[in-house]
Parts: sequence; structure tokens; C-alpha cells
Amino acid sequence: MDDTSILHRTGLRLILKFLTGKSIVLLCAHLNMAVSRSTRASLLVSLALVAAHPPVLCAQSGDRAGMTGEQLFKKACVACHGADGKGQPPEVRGFETEPPDFTDCHLTTPEADLDWDSIIHLGGRARSFDRIMPSFADELTDAEIGKIIGHLRTLCAERGWPRGDLNLPRAFVTEKAFPENEAVLTTTIAPSHEKSVSNEFLYEHRVGRRGQYEINVPLNFQQGDGGTWGAGVGDIAAAYKHVLFDSLASGSIVSAGGEIKFPTGSESKGLGGGVTVLEAFGTVSQMIGANGFLHVHTGFEVPSDTEKAPKEAFWRAAVGTSFLEHRFGRAWTPMVEVLGAREIVSGAASEWDVLPQMQVSLSTRQHVLVSAGVRVPLNDRADRGTSVLIYLLWDWFDGGLLSGW
Ligand code: HEC
Repeated sequence: MDDTSILHRTGLRLILKFLTGKSIVLLCAHLNMAVSRSTRASLLVSLALVAAHPPVLCAQSGDRAGMTGEQLFKKACVACHGADGKGQPPEVRGFETEPPDFTDCHLTTPEADLDWDSIIHLGGRARSFDRIMPSFADELTDAEIGKIIGHLRTLCAERGWPRGDLNLPRAFVTEKAFPENEAVLTTTIAPSHEKSVSNEFLYEHRVGRRGQYEINVPLNFQQGDGGTWGAGVGDIAAAYKHVLFDSLASGSIVSAGGEIKFPTGSESKGLGGGVTVLEAFGTVSQMIGANGFLHVHTGFEVPSDTEKAPKEAFWRAAVGTSFLEHRFGRAWTPMVEVLGAREIVSGAASEWDVLPQMQVSLSTRQHVLVSAGVRVPLNDRADRGTSVLIYLLWDWFDGGLLSGW
């Protein structure tokens, strides 16, 4: 910080002391941040803060013990976020970046408490948002921040939006119950048996409060009988999933859906199954303790022509837990999937696979993640080989692929 900004800051402290007549610890914390950013903006912010709410959090934490989340929010956050949580207009707040509208359920419900907790503790920079959103780690206790988040959660007045806390980490094969706005590129390399490299592009998009549709486009490279490689688009699929039940209190969410797979891939090149396949499925996701989770996914597939492909039932489960670096940082999520499938014909045996994997977040926003795993057949190994899987996941609702790093 240079001399002018120190001068500026001291001046502001004096003005504020004069205006509020109280200790101005918190305001000054905001100003430290704002001054180092831009003196003009800081002046506007300070005036906005004073005009909108003189004493802010001047009271010592002991005096604030009995305050509700709403009262704390009104003391500490209104200058920028507005008493109604919709964000102050530009002329009042004095800076460009628009604060979020906390009454907009579409925007706020997908956010997990942990994300807000980290932003309120460490400031916007914790998730690569604007630094104008200050850090409150030194001004508010964990319990107070918890109460404020509780208040923010009351600002979405509509019912039926599943909470982002139930959006548990994604496994490779086991479908999770939470409806998502994300794009996933998965590469599967099968180095033995029927050698292949397949890339699957999955696009998921939420509809309304509880729905989600998805489009799945595979691009396959497959070694044919003569040893030559075929390349091309595989069987494109479209699916819809709907949340039937969700409860943050019990940490559970239940969805059901259907998929239709079209025979777009060339059958002769080994890129597609040659039949239309209908699938119906159900999925349950359950939080376990603070950072653990379980997904269970089951369903059956019915092809349009059972001569070409059999009916099949499948059951899948994924269990894992996340470890966060420095409480709010990068998330490492080891998990393991157990995958079972059986053709619905008499005498058919079940195929069992196990798929240990590790997912890690890459971006500061936590919206771009990578995962790697190995799928190992547990039986029928003469016919089925091990494959290596990698995905890159982009939660596009949280920001551009290149923003938030
Ligand atoms: C100096 C102005 C200012 C103050 C004071 C302020 N905020 Fe913010 N806050 C912002 C801005 C601006 C953003 C949006 C940042 C962006 O989008 O890059 C923001 C973003 C947030 C977010 C992220 C929401 C999302 O989109 O996920 C949360 C949570 C938040 N603020 C909570 C609070 C709470 C709670 C307080 C009071 C304890 C507070 N803020 C005080 C300006 C402020």
C-alpha cells in the first residue's frame, strides 16, 4: 500500500468516526480492501456504507451474541447486498460488479453452503469472484457466518428447489440424483481385448426446479476384426431425469428418468449397437457425515430388436468422501464404484466390475474438475478387459470454462 492510500484510509477512518461516533473496525476492513483496489471506488463504497448503514459491526463480538442471522446481515452486508438481498443499485453501492440477487432461487439454490461459507470467510477471491466482496474471517465468528447463511437461505421464497449441498461428486458410470448444469468429456481407453478409445461428450441442462435433460454424443475409435481401426460417431442418446424427493435434513435426494439411445453409430464398424434402446432408471444420492456420500443407480434397457441386443438390467453404486485443502480449498475426492449388469434372459450370468477413481477440482471457482479411474472386471475376464477412464467436468452455470481460475 502506498502513502496516498494510507493517507486516504486514515482520512476515511476520521470521516467515519465523525459520522458514526463508534469504533469502525469492520468498515475499515472493507476500506483497506477497497482503498488498495481503487481510491475512488473506496470513497464511494465508504459513503455508501455510511449512508446505508452507519454503525455496521462496530459492536464487539460479545455484544452481538444474541443477534439473529437477519440482524447480522443487516449490519454487515446491506451496504452492497441491500436489506432485501437483491443487491444495491449501482448509484448506491458505487462499484460496477453486480452483487448476486439472493432472492433468485434459480441462482442461489444450486450453491452449497460451503461455497458461501468460503466466500464470506475469505472474500470473493476465495472462489475467484470480485475482490470487492470482502473477507469477514476477522470480523465474524463461524457461528455468526452460519446464522447469516441461514438467513440468506430464507430469501428464496419458492419451494421445490433441491439444495446444492445435495449435489455430491460425480462418479464415472453411476448416475447421481441431483439435476445438473454441466458438460463432461469422458475418454475411455480399452487397451486389451476389443481395443478401443472412446470419447463421450455429455451435456446436461436443468429444466425448471427439478428436471434435467441431457445429450450424450460418443466419438469412438474401435479396432475391428481385421485389426483395422474404425472411427466415427457412436450411438447418440438423449435422457431426462426428474427429482422425486429431496431432503437436506436427511441428506437424501431421489430421481427417476428415462433415456433413448439412437442407432447413429455404424454397426459394421463396431461403433454402434444397430438398434434403438430405451432405458428407465432410478437413482438415490445420500450424504454420509460431513463429506462422505453414496450414489445408487439402477434400471433396465429394452432394445427395439431383441434379436440384435438383449434386454439388460443394471445396478451401480459409488461411495466416496472429499478432502478439502485448507478448509475451503481444492477438493480431492477418492471414490469407488461397483457396477453390476445382467442380460434379462434365462441362465445369463451377472457381470461385475469395480472402478476405483480420484476426482480433483482444478479451478479456484471449483467448477472445472478432472477425474481418473480404472475399470476392472471382477468376473468373465477372458472376454472383458480392464479400461482406463478420464473425465473433464465443467459446471458451466458457475462461469466460463476459462474464467474463475
Ligand atoms: C463492499 C460490498 C460488499 C459487502 C459489504 C458484502 N458483499 Fe457479498 N458480494 C459483493 C459483490 C460485489 C459480490 C459479487 C461478486 C462477483 O460476482 O464477482 C458479492 C458476492 C457474495 C456472495 C457470493 C454469492 C454467489 O453468487 O455465489 C456471497 C455469499 C456474499 N457476497 C455474501 C455476503 C455477506 C454474507 C456479506 C456480509 C457479511 C457480504 N456479502 C458483504 C459485495 C459485497
